[in-house]
Amino acid sequence: MDAFICREINKMTITLLADYFGAPELEIQQIYQELLDDKQFLGEINQQLAFCRQYHQKGIFRHESLDSVDWFGIQRILLYVLVRMRQPEVFVETGVFYGGNTAFILNALRRNGKGHLYSFDLAANEIQDLNRHHLVGDSEIIPAGLDVGFMVHENLKKAWTLIRGHSHQTLPLFDKQIDIFMHDSDHAHNFVLREFEIIWPKLSENAVILADDLNWANAFFQVCVERRLLPLIITDNGKSGLLARTGLAWLQHPANTKLDMVGG
Ligand SMILES: C[S@@+](CC[C@H](N)C(=O)[O-])C[C@H]1O[C@@H](n2cnc3c(N)ncnc32)[C@H](O)[C@@H]1O
Repeated sequence: MDAFICREINKMTITLLADYFGAPELEIQQIYQELLDDKQFLGEINQQLAFCRQYHQKGIFRHESLDSVDWFGIQRILLYVLVRMRQPEVFVETGVFYGGNTAFILNALRRNGKGHLYSFDLAANEIQDLNRHHLVGDSEIIPAGLDVGFMVHENLKKAWTLIRGHSHQTLPLFDKQIDIFMHDSDHAHNFVLREFEIIWPKLSENAVILADDLNWANAFFQVCVERRLLPLIITDNGKSGLLARTGLAWLQHPANTKLDMVGG
């Protein structure tokens, strides 16, 4: 899709995000603009792409060099804006692969000047032994010569801890309060439910939860219904035919307790 059209659609999504949190739209759009103007981050991405392309040429790694972050899906941009808005101390994500989300989250934390990202992913190529969701294909297998998070530039790693192993085993050991949680590991229905069950008591009162690939399972929607949370559902910015892609819910959204989503 044309980068200009992506930008216009991204702006609409940012408007939705501002509305959902009751935040001033212009200020939130300004955060997106700040990301678009961030030449240091774009340079770091291009350096990583150039390094990784010898091992991996799929997706974003096909490009010689990017002239804008708009080449990435809206989810990455949304995460940047969210982290700048919410100023989390502790962000937890499951599922890193090449580190697209990771890089954008870390860039926002760097700009915030505070906060830490804890990323959970499997040990190297453990994924090949697992019985995964049928939509996975081979797109998550780390290419030889690279490791999880291979798009994350060294400059961004100060506020980053990568925890290796099956998330159902590693997440229970996590002992910090979580301000933002993003699920993007195994999207099988019961797997997702279990991740949310594990992290639920660790969430701060004002936390925000997210999940990727909503169209793979109804699990995130189920979490929202059972916990009476108003979800914000974001579509891909047209790149994959407007699929419902990213779900977000804020534990303090004023409409949460008024919800009667079941049986309505
Ligand atoms: C869709 S990819 C993540 C994409 C990434 N968030 C991004 O921004 O591009 C899914 C990742 O989940 C990891 N994963 C799958 N099953 C897992 C499990 N049981 N525990 C931890 N990580 C898992 C895979 O190794 C893979 O890196």
